[in-house]
Amino acid sequence: MGKKITVTVIKADVGGCVGHSSVHSALIEKAQGMLKGSSLLIDSYVAHVGDDINLIMTHELGRNNGEIHQLAWDTFVACTEIAKKLKLYGAGQDLLADAFSGNIKGLGPGVAEMEFEERKSEPIIIFMADKTEPGAWNLPLYKIFADPFNTAGLVIDPSMHDGFIFEVRDLIENTRVNFSAPEEIYDMLVFIGAPGRYCIKRVFHKKTGEIAAVSSTQRLNLMAGRYVGKDDPVCIVRCQSGMPAVGEVLEPFTKPHLVSGWMRGSHSGPLMPVSMQQATPSRFDGPPRVVALGFQLAEGKLIGPQDFFADPAFDQARQMANEIASYMRSLGPFEPHRLHLDEMEYTTMPQVLKKLKDRFEKLR
Ligand code: F6R
Ligand code: MG
Ligand code: MG
Repeated sequence: MGKKITVTVIKADVGGCVGHSSVHSALIEKAQGMLKGSSLLIDSYVAHVGDDINLIMTHELGRNNGEIHQLAWDTFVACTEIAKKLKLYGAGQDLLADAFSGNIKGLGPGVAEMEFEERKSEPIIIFMADKTEPGAWNLPLYKIFADPFNTAGLVIDPSMHDGFIFEVRDLIENTRVNFSAPEEIYDMLVFIGAPGRYCIKRVFHKKTGEIAAVSSTQRLNLMAGRYVGKDDPVCIVRCQSGMPAVGEVLEPFTKPHLVSGWMRGSHSGPLMPVSMQQATPSRFDGPPRVVALGFQLAEGKLIGPQDFFADPAFDQARQMANEIASYMRSLGPFEPHRLHLDEMEYTTMPQVLKKLKDRFEKLR
């Protein structure tokens, strides 16, 4: 057995500039400096999408490693100090605990990690989204790993033809269940079609058992029990040589699907694929957006990135997203633009109900 590499992506919003739209360069520089200065890591890359800082780290310490999680936590704390000085918006908002306690999960930041033996050549794509929730990956992950209309390899590549295993999490009951695709896709779709509750956490290559994809499934609002912003998830996908090709992994994002989030975490809108430069939500605090950074791993070194959605081949998707955004906005405060009552991050319903309680008449 060769040595194993772990790719860890940990993200948090510790202060926006301006409002919830972007991250100030001083925070990015601080985070870069802290990661580069750590002897725990083989390599690192700091990205941001909207108001979230994404720490991309490679190491040999495995998943759920306390030292790696502590490094990420300390980095976010250091960035928060700067955010407070600059009075950035929502400084420290995703750090729900006062102190680190062994594992960053449950403390606010989102985490996606995978450990594997690096192949002869190891292309990976890291997706990072803002103004949406973890279930946003369900539809693209389904298309990438289970839909032959998206992924030609499922039909014509003998090393993929057996399909993939999907690990689905119930975020309310905190349970998990595995589905085998293609045999069980109808059963699986019953669940993953409800992305506010059921999320695809991991995908495994069926024949080899190798990890193929992992997402962050933290739901901040479930953790904090109050409005603390959306989760703005990340997802890591391995590509090529028995895994879906880079182009098959990117293909689902050519048709922007509706996701929950956007303004006040309480609206449905299209997920717009954008370049790093365009990753600054503005219109109605959105629309929700996603960036795809590609890397080749070389003994854990991150070679890249390739900013995939900068390609003009995604211009049409952006155009479509803008049209869908305008249509959805035209519904104003009506569902389905505004989310269903159970899904809204903000609501004035209790106060308004209280005010009007004597005016509701019982009907016989
Ligand atoms: C959505 C988001 C923003 C804010 C909105 C109001 O995830 O971050 O749309 O919800 O800008 O923010 P506050 O309540 O902080 O004024
Ligand atoms: Mg924010
Ligand atoms: Mg955000």
